[in-house]
Formats: sequence, structure tokens, C-alpha cells
Amino acid sequence: MTPGPTFTTPLTEALGCRHPVVQTAMGFVADPRLVAATTNAGGFGFLALATVPPGGVAAALAAVRKATDGPFGVNFHMFQPNAREVIETVLARPVRAVSYGRGPDAATIRRFKAAGILCMPTVGAVRHAVKAVELGADIVTVQGAEGGGHTGAVPTTLLLSQVLDAVRVPVVAAGGFHDGRGLAAALAWGAAGIAMGTRFLLTAESPVHPEALARYLDEGDPAAIRVTTAVDGLPQRFVATAELGRLEGMGVAARVVASLRHAFAFGRRAGMSPAAMLRTAWASAVTGGAGFSATVMAPNLPVLVERGLRGGDVAGGLLPSGQVAALIGTVERCETLIGRIVAEAAARLDAAAALKGEAA
Ligand SMILES: Cc1cc2nc3c(=O)[nH]c(=O)nc-3n(C[C@H](O)[C@H](O)[C@H](O)COP(=O)(O)O)c2cc1C
Repeated sequence: MTPGPTFTTPLTEALGCRHPVVQTAMGFVADPRLVAATTNAGGFGFLALATVPPGGVAAALAAVRKATDGPFGVNFHMFQPNAREVIETVLARPVRAVSYGRGPDAATIRRFKAAGILCMPTVGAVRHAVKAVELGADIVTVQGAEGGGHTGAVPTTLLLSQVLDAVRVPVVAAGGFHDGRGLAAALAWGAAGIAMGTRFLLTAESPVHPEALARYLDEGDPAAIRVTTAVDGLPQRFVATAELGRLEGMGVAARVVASLRHAFAFGRRAGMSPAAMLRTAWASAVTGGAGFSATVMAPNLPVLVERGLRGGDVAGGLLPSGQVAALIGTVERCETLIGRIVAEAAARLDAAAALKGEAA
């Protein structure tokens, strides 16, 4: 870990990390290597378990522990087929924190807390933040609309203020962060740190295929990284690939056929029957408040995202992304990235403090 400035916040104190910089979970991206690299660089990494096949959770956790002694967390959603496996595995040998979107019930949250595991959901709306804290959340990550993956409608600048005013637990700002200006702004806002997905996707330790990395780096227009419901029925932000355009141009019937094909393909690899795959999709749609179309389209997501991110098929696959990808021009090592962000933030905050005077 390189020497340099750091910030002590309620987030670093709670998570036991050196810097208030979180690497969020990303399916097919936040693997053991990326999590360990983040944690070893003084940040806090979340392992994405939604895309780990049933039976694979313990091995993924062991791989992180082999690569780092530092604290890290895991991410899961209750609708995923291995949710129970995730819960029991981390309770048997606790991690520092769990993050989730569609999260567990209050009883499970109590079990996590009793085991010393911090509960750190990600929310996209102020009412979800309030509800999450009522259910027992220790820390809340707010993801503004500019963020990658499934995303809400309120930008980070507004959502952060709303949530800071509404809850009494530490709040972490996410959605659109990539540099020290962002960290300085978030801390000045009253947040306890920042969380980044897309910026960590574009690091040397990310498992994303070089062709896909190049496509992200080539994208120069934040407005072109747009939200659509055409993939799984829920609003999600993507780089505009040819496959995205094709899905958006399809009628409902064609999307359903594509989705059934994907349910078979994904289910076979994940060791799930097509019926189990559709049950998972159903659970996702029901807990997400989406309707029938979301249910039948849900299997499109993992197959096409894996094809884009890991297969490097930038025409025939999908590339989930925050708008911030348009501002990122290089792939950096996690250690360089985190060190740079913290040093830039310290300089920005010093410069801002120097502006302060007393009126006579
Ligand atoms: C490729 C990709 C995959 C993602 N997968 C997940 C996921 O599996 N679970 C989750 O809770 N959030 C997921 N997200 C959302 C991120 O964890 C994070 O909240 C978001 O990227 C923050 O916005 P930013 O990209 O502007 O930093 C994903 C985001 C991206 C870009």
C-alpha cells in the first residue's frame, strides 16, 4: 500500500479499511481477484455472488481470503438461486459486510448483525433508504440515476441530500464517481465515503475482456450510456451496443422467445433446470415490483451481459455501465487508482478550505 493522505470517516471505522472508497459488487466483474486488489489497496471490495453458480459460494470466498488478509464484503439479492447458500456460508464464517438490493427480511438481518456482519444495502430512492434502516441497515449506499446496473431516476446530487436528511446511519455516495473531486465533494456533502462500480470495472485487475474494456474507454458521451427496460423489464443502464438496439427493436413475443432460449443456456451452465431459471426470474420480478414482462425477459440479462463482459462480444452482448465510463480514459491498477483519488481529494479539500475567511 502506497503511503499518502487518508481520511478517517464512520465508514473506514466501521469497515476497518484505510480509505473511504468502496468497490461495489458487479455481476461477472467483482470476482475474488478484483475484491482482493481493492482491499489490499486500502479500499473495501464487495464480491458479487449473484452470478456465482449454486455450490460455488464457499470457493469464491476462499479465493478472496487466499489473496488478502483485509476486510471485504459480499453482495447478494434474495431472489437469486443461491441466496440461502450465501447467507449460511457467510454466517458460518463471517465477512465484514453484506450488501444487497432486494434484501433479506428483518430476522435474517438480525442474524447477520448478531454475527458481527454489517448490513449495507444499496438504494436508489429515499423511501427505500428509510425502509432499509428500519429493517436494520448499519450503513446505506445511495446510487444515483447516473450509476451502472439497475438504477433509479434521481441523480446522485439530489438523492444524497435526501437520504442524508432522512436517515441517521452513515451514508455512502455512489453513481458517477471516478476521481478525487468526487470523493472531496461527497465528504463535503456529509457522506462517509464513495462507492464505485464502473471505475473499478475499468481497472487492471478487472476480469472484463480487453475488447469490452476498449469499448467502454472509447465511449465519450455520457448521454449515450442510456437506461432501457428492454433487457429484463427493469430500468438498467448500458453502453449502446448493437444487441441493445436489437432488443429495443423487438416485439414482446420475440423477446420472450429470446429469453426462453437464454433461460435454457444459462440454466444449463449454472446447473439449473429451465424451470428453476424461470422461478428465479419470477422471484426477481415479483420482489422488484415488476410485472409479467420482466419475469419472462429476466433470463436475457446474465447471458447477454456475460457475452459482452467476459466474452468480449461488444456487438452481440451487453455492457452494463454508469454514465461515468464516458469520463474514464485509462485502465489503472486498483492501488494507483485509490491512491490517486485520495490524494486528489485531499488537495481539493485543502484548496476549498483555503477559500474560507471571516467577514469583518
Ligand atoms: C457491469 C455492472 C454490473 C453490476 N452488477 C451488480 C450486481 O450484481 N449487484 C448489485 O447490487 N449491483 C450491481 N451493479 C451496480 C453497482 O454495484 C454500483 O451500484 C454502480 O455501478 C454504481 O455506479 P457507477 O457505475 O457510476 O460507479 C452493477 C453495475 C455494473 C456497471
